[in-house]
Amino acid sequence: MLSAFLLLGYLCGSVPFGVLLTRWLRGVDVRDSGSGNIGATNVTRVAGKKLGAVVLLLDAVKGAVPVGLALHWMPGDSLAHALVGLSAVLGHVYPVWLKLKGGKGVATALGVLCVLVPTAALAGAVIYGLVVAKWRVSSVGSLSAAVVAIVTAFLTAHSRDYVLLTAGLFVLMLWTHRSNLQRLARRTEHRL
Ligand code: G3P
Repeated sequence: MLSAFLLLGYLCGSVPFGVLLTRWLRGVDVRDSGSGNIGATNVTRVAGKKLGAVVLLLDAVKGAVPVGLALHWMPGDSLAHALVGLSAVLGHVYPVWLKLKGGKGVATALGVLCVLVPTAALAGAVIYGLVVAKWRVSSVGSLSAAVVAIVTAFLTAHSRDYVLLTAGLFVLMLWTHRSNLQRLARRTEHRL
Protein backbone atom coordinates (compact mmCIF):
# COMPACT_ATOMS: atom_id res chain seq x y z
CA MET A 1 0.00 0.00 0.00
CA LEU A 2 2.75 2.49 0.93
CA SER A 3 4.62 2.01 -2.36
CA ALA A 4 1.41 2.75 -4.29
CA PHE A 5 0.97 5.97 -2.31
CA LEU A 6 4.60 6.96 -2.84
CA LEU A 7 4.08 6.54 -6.58
CA LEU A 8 0.82 8.49 -6.41
CA GLY A 9 2.57 11.28 -4.47
CA TYR A 10 5.41 11.43 -6.97
CA LEU A 11 3.09 11.45 -9.99
CA CYS A 12 0.83 14.14 -8.51
CA GLY A 13 3.84 16.28 -7.60
CA SER A 14 5.38 15.88 -11.04
CA VAL A 15 2.50 17.57 -12.90
CA PRO A 16 4.19 20.81 -14.05
CA PHE A 17 1.26 23.23 -13.80
CA GLY A 18 3.50 26.29 -14.27
CA VAL A 19 4.80 24.99 -17.60
CA LEU A 20 1.43 23.70 -18.82
CA LEU A 21 -0.64 26.80 -17.97
CA THR A 22 1.83 29.38 -19.28
CA ARG A 23 2.15 27.39 -22.49
CA TRP A 24 -1.60 26.84 -22.94
CA LEU A 25 -2.79 30.30 -21.86
CA ARG A 26 0.09 32.60 -22.87
CA GLY A 27 1.94 30.62 -25.52
CA VAL A 28 5.27 30.97 -23.72
CA ASP A 29 7.58 28.62 -21.87
CA VAL A 30 8.10 29.92 -18.34
CA ARG A 31 11.51 28.21 -18.32
CA ASP A 32 12.78 30.67 -20.96
CA SER A 33 12.26 33.82 -18.88
CA GLY A 34 13.01 35.35 -15.48
CA SER A 35 14.69 32.86 -13.17
CA GLY A 36 13.71 29.98 -15.47
CA ASN A 37 11.91 28.33 -12.55
CA ILE A 38 8.57 26.62 -13.22
CA GLY A 39 6.94 27.75 -9.97
CA ALA A 40 4.41 30.41 -9.08
CA THR A 41 7.01 33.13 -8.47
CA ASN A 42 8.39 32.96 -11.98
CA VAL A 43 4.93 32.45 -13.50
CA THR A 44 3.97 35.73 -11.78
CA ARG A 45 6.97 37.44 -13.40
CA VAL A 46 6.29 35.99 -16.82
CA ALA A 47 2.48 35.86 -16.96
CA GLY A 48 1.13 38.05 -14.17
CA LYS A 49 -0.29 37.76 -10.67
CA LYS A 50 -3.52 35.95 -11.57
CA LEU A 51 -1.85 33.04 -13.32
CA GLY A 52 0.84 33.02 -10.61
CA ALA A 53 -1.87 32.63 -7.97
CA VAL A 54 -3.52 29.80 -9.91
CA VAL A 55 -0.19 27.95 -10.22
CA LEU A 56 0.51 28.50 -6.52
CA LEU A 57 -2.86 26.97 -5.66
CA LEU A 58 -2.53 24.00 -8.02
CA ASP A 59 1.07 23.28 -6.98
CA ALA A 60 -0.08 23.27 -3.34
CA VAL A 61 -3.10 21.07 -4.08
CA LYS A 62 -0.93 18.45 -5.80
CA GLY A 63 0.97 18.13 -2.52
CA ALA A 64 -2.10 18.18 -0.29
CA VAL A 65 -4.18 15.59 -2.18
CA PRO A 66 -1.91 12.52 -1.97
CA VAL A 67 -1.11 13.28 1.68
CA GLY A 68 -4.82 13.69 2.44
CA LEU A 69 -5.52 10.33 0.80
CA ALA A 70 -2.66 8.70 2.73
CA LEU A 71 -4.09 10.08 5.99
CA HIS A 72 -7.46 8.58 5.10
CA TRP A 73 -6.22 5.15 4.00
CA MET A 74 -3.32 4.75 6.43
CA PRO A 75 -4.52 6.50 9.59
CA GLY A 76 -1.99 6.49 12.39
CA ASP A 77 0.99 5.78 10.13
CA SER A 78 2.71 9.14 10.45
CA LEU A 79 5.92 7.93 8.80
CA ALA A 80 3.93 6.92 5.72
CA HIS A 81 2.20 10.32 5.62
CA ALA A 82 5.56 12.09 5.82
CA LEU A 83 7.08 9.92 3.08
CA VAL A 84 4.11 10.46 0.77
CA GLY A 85 4.46 14.22 1.34
CA LEU A 86 8.15 14.06 0.57
CA SER A 87 7.49 12.04 -2.60
CA ALA A 88 5.06 14.72 -3.82
CA VAL A 89 7.63 17.48 -3.30
CA LEU A 90 10.33 15.37 -4.97
CA GLY A 91 7.92 14.86 -7.87
CA HIS A 92 7.75 18.62 -8.34
CA VAL A 93 11.52 19.03 -8.06
CA TYR A 94 12.39 16.04 -10.28
CA PRO A 95 9.41 15.52 -12.66
CA VAL A 96 9.74 12.65 -15.07
CA TRP A 97 7.88 14.72 -17.71
CA LEU A 98 10.58 17.45 -17.73
CA LYS A 99 13.65 15.21 -17.77
CA LEU A 100 13.86 15.56 -13.96
CA LYS A 101 14.35 19.36 -14.22
CA GLY A 102 11.51 20.78 -12.16
CA GLY A 103 10.88 23.52 -9.64
CA LYS A 104 11.94 24.39 -6.12
CA GLY A 105 9.10 22.68 -4.29
CA VAL A 106 7.94 25.56 -2.10
CA ALA A 107 4.22 25.57 -3.00
CA THR A 108 4.00 21.78 -3.01
CA ALA A 109 5.67 21.63 0.41
CA LEU A 110 3.16 24.24 1.59
CA GLY A 111 0.31 21.99 0.42
CA VAL A 112 1.80 18.99 2.23
CA LEU A 113 2.21 20.96 5.46
CA CYS A 114 -1.32 22.39 5.17
CA VAL A 115 -2.53 18.82 5.72
CA LEU A 116 0.06 17.45 8.16
CA VAL A 117 1.12 20.51 10.20
CA PRO A 118 -1.29 23.34 9.36
CA THR A 119 0.22 25.63 12.01
CA ALA A 120 3.63 25.37 10.31
CA ALA A 121 2.05 26.02 6.91
CA LEU A 122 0.25 29.09 8.27
CA ALA A 123 3.31 30.47 10.07
CA GLY A 124 5.45 29.90 6.97
CA ALA A 125 2.90 31.59 4.71
CA VAL A 126 2.67 34.62 7.02
CA ILE A 127 6.47 34.99 7.18
CA TYR A 128 6.74 34.58 3.41
CA GLY A 129 4.16 37.32 2.91
CA LEU A 130 5.88 39.70 5.33
CA VAL A 131 9.37 39.13 3.91
CA VAL A 132 8.26 39.47 0.29
CA ALA A 133 6.17 42.56 1.08
CA LYS A 134 9.28 44.21 2.55
CA TRP A 135 12.09 43.03 0.24
CA ARG A 136 10.31 41.72 -2.91
CA VAL A 137 12.62 38.69 -3.06
CA SER A 138 10.72 35.41 -3.17
CA SER A 139 13.68 33.13 -2.42
CA VAL A 140 14.39 34.94 0.86
CA GLY A 141 10.71 34.64 1.73
CA SER A 142 10.70 30.92 0.93
CA LEU A 143 13.80 30.11 2.97
CA SER A 144 12.60 32.25 5.89
CA ALA A 145 9.27 30.43 5.75
CA ALA A 146 11.02 27.05 5.78
CA VAL A 147 12.96 27.98 8.94
CA VAL A 148 9.83 29.24 10.70
CA ALA A 149 7.97 26.09 9.62
CA ILE A 150 10.55 23.88 11.36
CA VAL A 151 10.27 25.81 14.62
CA THR A 152 6.48 25.78 14.46
CA ALA A 153 6.39 22.06 13.63
CA PHE A 154 8.74 21.33 16.52
CA LEU A 155 6.39 23.16 18.89
CA THR A 156 3.04 21.98 17.55
CA ALA A 157 3.25 18.87 15.33
CA HIS A 158 1.42 15.73 16.45
CA SER A 159 4.21 13.43 15.34
CA ARG A 160 8.00 13.43 15.37
CA ASP A 161 7.84 12.16 11.77
CA TYR A 162 6.13 15.38 10.72
CA VAL A 163 8.87 17.43 12.41
CA LEU A 164 11.53 15.40 10.61
CA LEU A 165 9.65 15.89 7.34
CA THR A 166 9.60 19.67 7.87
CA ALA A 167 13.34 19.62 8.60
CA GLY A 168 13.96 17.46 5.52
CA LEU A 169 11.96 19.88 3.39
CA PHE A 170 14.13 22.74 4.67
CA VAL A 171 17.28 20.87 3.57
CA LEU A 172 15.67 20.21 0.19
CA MET A 173 14.77 23.92 -0.09
CA LEU A 174 18.40 24.87 0.55
CA TRP A 175 19.41 22.53 -2.27
CA THR A 176 16.78 23.71 -4.73
CA HIS A 177 17.55 27.35 -3.95
CA ARG A 178 21.33 27.00 -4.42
CA SER A 179 21.30 29.19 -7.55
CA ASN A 180 19.21 31.77 -5.65
CA LEU A 181 21.72 31.72 -2.78
CA GLN A 182 24.56 32.33 -5.24
CA ARG A 183 22.67 35.26 -6.78
CA LEU A 184 21.88 36.64 -3.33
CA ALA A 185 25.57 36.52 -2.44
CA ARG A 186 26.36 38.39 -5.68
CA ARG A 187 23.42 40.78 -5.10
CA THR A 188 21.93 39.83 -8.47
CA GLU A 189 18.86 37.91 -7.26
CA HIS A 190 15.65 38.38 -9.27
CA ARG A 191 12.90 40.39 -7.65
CA LEU A 192 9.23 39.53 -7.74
O1 G3P B 1 9.25 29.45 -4.83
C1 G3P B 1 10.43 29.62 -5.48
C2 G3P B 1 11.06 30.88 -4.98
O2 G3P B 1 11.51 30.69 -3.67
C3 G3P B 1 12.16 31.38 -5.84
O3 G3P B 1 11.71 31.49 -7.15
O4 G3P B 1 11.78 32.19 -9.49
O5 G3P B 1 12.85 33.63 -7.74
O6 G3P B 1 13.89 31.44 -8.35
P1 G3P B 1 12.61 32.22 -8.24
